[in-house]
This record gives sequence, C-alpha cells and structure tokens, in this order.
Amino acid sequence: MRPDEGPRASAGEGTEASGAAGLTRHVRRALESGTASSGPARDPRFVGLPPAHPVVLIGPMGSGKSTVGRVLGPLLGLAVLDADHLFEEVHGPIAAFFTEHGEPAFRSAEADLIREILSSHRPEVVSLGGGAVISATTRRALQQEPGVILLEVDEAEALARLGGGEGRPVLAGDPASTWRRILSEREPLYREVATWTVKTTGLDAGEVAARIADLLAERQTETAPTPPPRQSPFEDHSGDAR
Ligand code: S3P
Repeated sequence: MRPDEGPRASAGEGTEASGAAGLTRHVRRALESGTASSGPARDPRFVGLPPAHPVVLIGPMGSGKSTVGRVLGPLLGLAVLDADHLFEEVHGPIAAFFTEHGEPAFRSAEADLIREILSSHRPEVVSLGGGAVISATTRRALQQEPGVILLEVDEAEALARLGGGEGRPVLAGDPASTWRRILSEREPLYREVATWTVKTTGLDAGEVAARIADLLAERQTETAPTPPPRQSPFEDHSGDAR
C-alpha cells in the first residue's frame, strides 16, 4: 500500500454493492471521504466542466498523474480521486494483487472500478493508473468525457521519478526498456481518448496543474455565448484534440 493512503478496508466489504447508483461501498465511501473533499476554487476562472463531468488525468507511469491531481483539485475547487489508491483500498496492494491473481484479473477489476467512478457523475479530479486505457470499455467511457488530459513525460524524467519501479509490477525486471515498450503500445490508446495533451517534462506539479487550469479556462471561453477572437488552445500544448 502506498504511504499516503488511509487504512485498507476489511475483507469482503469491497465487493458488496450499495443501493446507491450501483456503487460499491468503498467507492462511495472514498468519494465522500475527507481525502475526496472539495472546496472553493483557487483559480477564479474555473466555473466547472459541464455538470457532472470529472477532469480525468491519464498518461504513462511517472507522468505525475497522482501528484498533479492532488494539486489540481484544490486549484479548481474539486474533490480528488486517485483510482490506484481506491483500488488498493478495495483490493489491497496492487503488486500483491498481480502476484495472486495475475494482470488480466487486475485489468478487469481496474476497469470495474473506473466504470463506477465515472458513472458516479461527480465533478472531481480523477487520476487513473497508466494502464487503464488498455480496457476498451474504459476507453469508450473516456471518449464520452469532455476533460480527459494526457500527461506526457520524457523517458529519462519518468524513470527518474519512478526510481526502481517499486510497487509497479508491470515494470518488474528491466524498468527502462519495459517503460519504453509499454508506452509505444499504449500511446495510440491514450490519443484515442485524450481531449488535451500537456507536456510535463521539466515542470513541477504546480506548473502542470496551472497549464491544465489554463486549458480549462480557455475551453470555457470557447464555449461562452460570444467568444472573443482567440488562438487555438492546442497550439501550445502539442495539439492533441481528439
Ligand atoms: C500500471 C500503472 C500503475 C498501476 C499499476 C499498473 C500500468 O499506476 O495502475 O501498477 O500498467 O501502467 P501509475 O500509472 O499511477 O503508476
């Protein structure tokens, strides 16, 4: 389990469906917990995505999704939810889950959890695990979302951030070559679902969060009834509108 998490729930609880919107008890609890609490937006430009849509962070391991999410949430006045953390609250450590059940079972449970998160229709910042886009079901769900942000990172910086890849079973063995191979396999999948792409190399989490806030603010300008003349928001951000 990662150090910044709350306690793991007791066995059996995680799979029990609650009555409310089909959410498992754990998902619902996490959504309502203090770690997922929202507040006033620090960025006064942000008035929200269309109601009930989250800002979703995707990207490879080491791109900073979780760290950026924690900074972005308070900036936008949105609750923050980390899908990997939630997975571990429900199922225990990801590495142990891989060892015990294998990757296909992990992907299936991960996709179930993401479906629940997205179908809860809450405006929040959600960071997903790097492999979430492998699931076609998850990709279809993400294509319905107006605010999916792909965080890009250079290999060297990602590997520096990831250290030896502890807690990330897909990097076992040779983290550098595995990271590279996985990225080449997943890159088209990220692009299939991303609304915007933000380069994170050389930036800290606050700077990345500020760029995302800029994109969202420009989007609001774009959808305002009488938008002023402006440049494409994609020009400075590698232009990956889907
Ligand atoms: C994975 C990425 C991890 C975690 C799991 C598998 C992947 O999340 O979901 O270890 O396949 O890329 P991060 O991207 O947050 O490291």
